[in-house]
Amino acid sequence: MTTGLDDRQRAMLAEMGIRVWAPRAAARAPAADEQAAAPVAPQATPAGRSDATRPRAATSAAKPAPPPLPAATPPEHDPAQPAATLAPRPAGIESMDWAQLEAAVAACRACALCTGRTQTVFGVGSRRADWMVIGEAPGENEDRLGQPFVGQAGKLLDNMLAAIGLSRQADADDPVASDGTPTRQGVYIANVLKCRPPRNRNPQPDEIAQCEPYLRRQVALVQPRIILAMGRFAVQSLLNTSEPIGRLRGRVHQYEGVPVIVTYHPAYLLRALPEKAKAWQDLCLALEVAGRGASATASASASNPISDSEHQ
Ligand code: URA
Repeated sequence: MTTGLDDRQRAMLAEMGIRVWAPRAAARAPAADEQAAAPVAPQATPAGRSDATRPRAATSAAKPAPPPLPAATPPEHDPAQPAATLAPRPAGIESMDWAQLEAAVAACRACALCTGRTQTVFGVGSRRADWMVIGEAPGENEDRLGQPFVGQAGKLLDNMLAAIGLSRQADADDPVASDGTPTRQGVYIANVLKCRPPRNRNPQPDEIAQCEPYLRRQVALVQPRIILAMGRFAVQSLLNTSEPIGRLRGRVHQYEGVPVIVTYHPAYLLRALPEKAKAWQDLCLALEVAGRGASATASASASNPISDSEHQ
């Protein structure tokens, strides 16, 4: 009896930290980098997001290393500040270019979260990406470093993306076609909220509403082939629904004409390891919809090779 997986599929699953059961004779010893990619339980936060402070390990030599995480932890801020410090969002977000949009986000004082932030967290990756990943909100590390998903959840996200050949590398590394035009590839990662909620609490409806035009414009500028909505708040914000993720998975939704695949938040996957198999299915569906990796999708969806007991 075999697992029915070829080397490429095994490598993908290993990148995600998923171990596949195999008969003893056929089982191979895990490589050192697989062990490094295995998730480490994060510190629980009120919002359930990962805020572990260990630096993220690079998942490939080509990938730019994220900036090191500072050791010092600044005091938590409470954004309950006088309303006088707030100001309406700028007009014309829907026609802003990248520079204007980034400046508008950096200067935004439309909700009380601006009073507690160290900096805004705009987004990272290729601005011509085929894939767009949308998460919830910056945590402590993201607030300090100005980049989304830099903690343990971010490490898992990077591994998941690596499993399908994507990384958060920036525009400068985009390949150029023979006519000099940058070719579309890669991934752009952004959050529903651009400012950290205090003590990592859940985003509030008014905060999501204030930030929504920025995200909408990011999507319009990137024009991705596929959006991967990770976690409850990304899903609720993009799809305007309160249905649980479990009921929304496995289908293709739409946001502004872009196909959306719903999946679990990486911080949740760190706490619920068996759900990683579902996240893998979601990635396969996204690959299929994005028109990439058709062969991997066909064999992965034919039968799920991963049973819950294999993750214990
Ligand atoms: N969780 C998110 O949803 N986004 C981040 O940037 C970090 C953690």
